[in-house]
Amino acid sequence: MKYIYPLVLIGQLLTYFRDGVTLSDEKKLIKDLLKKYSEAGKVGRPVQNTSHTISVTYGLALIQLLDLDEKNQILTTNCWSRYTWYDIFLKWDPKEYNGVETVRIPSSDIWTPDIVLYNYADTRLREHRDAFVVVSSTGGILWIPPAIYKSSCVIDITYFPFDRQTCWMKFGSWTYDGWKLNISFYSDLDEIDLNDYIPSNEWDVLSHRAKRNVRYYPCCKEPYPDLTFIMELQRKVAFYNYILILPCVLLSTLTLVLFWLPPESPAKMVLGMNIFVAFFVLLLLLAESTPPAASSIPLIGAYYCLNMIMITLSTFLSVIVINLYFRGDKRNRVPQWLKRVRKNK
Ligand SMILES: *[C@@H]1O[C@H](CO)[C@@H](O)[C@H](O)[C@H]1NC(C)=O
Repeated sequence: MKYIYPLVLIGQLLTYFRDGVTLSDEKKLIKDLLKKYSEAGKVGRPVQNTSHTISVTYGLALIQLLDLDEKNQILTTNCWSRYTWYDIFLKWDPKEYNGVETVRIPSSDIWTPDIVLYNYADTRLREHRDAFVVVSSTGGILWIPPAIYKSSCVIDITYFPFDRQTCWMKFGSWTYDGWKLNISFYSDLDEIDLNDYIPSNEWDVLSHRAKRNVRYYPCCKEPYPDLTFIMELQRKVAFYNYILILPCVLLSTLTLVLFWLPPESPAKMVLGMNIFVAFFVLLLLLAESTPPAASSIPLIGAYYCLNMIMITLSTFLSVIVINLYFRGDKRNRVPQWLKRVRKNK
């Protein structure tokens, strides 16, 4: 046994001379850490004692609002998730490694909290991109994976296009209860971080608060904490002003002018039917941008329909008036009841 260590040392020296490289402190440290970790196994929380709670902080930074799909009620966002926690297997003394304080290692090699979006509306299996974790010598871990989330969001389009939508994203551990994994806000920031936000050209973000909820289920005593991020969005209306509102105002004024035309003129009916068709085209445009099977129809759609009913009625009445106007002198006589009405006056 006594001779083995010098032999090993000589072997290592020979390898170094052959390859011409020595491992840097950082690489040596990562090798040691991963070796220690693979012995401990990456499944199971990295705590000393089973009764200990692992504290995970979580924060959400909104980068971009990719889409709010009114038809399928899905909000697609580009976000950065921020996690921090302590891992007792990833500690070291910086003095032993020439003062290396932090290293970056793949997240797939260590335990990571199973925090998921509860109200997902997704067919993909994974939301996160791969990102390294930053480990510091105290065992503190910072993990910021970028992700594209698709969350379900109840959309009410009654006031379209002047509507406001409230969407929420609920994050929590899928399997651990609050005694095993306690989740709280990243750097105590109870809102969505908008510092890197790229403004959307369809929506304004009115508010972006967040709340920590604790739920208890009848079966068990354990608390189940979750973090809910709520954003209130307002539609930018400029585009719809030109597409839906302005034509509607113009057509409505034309409807009023319709009554100035003399009753015997056929132009009256032509104009009436044209306005009817124009409103129908607007209604089709509206239907394109709103969900077809909504529980509430947009008020503006109801207004279009009302206008169409008015125009139909007005055309109908003018047909009757024209009919009566030409009766007296030519074909049939004026009906008896109408004459009576006239006499009574
Ligand atoms: C979990 O975290 C919250 C907020 O940080 C704290 O008030 C609570 O006491 C913690 N619960 C446990 C079981 O550690």
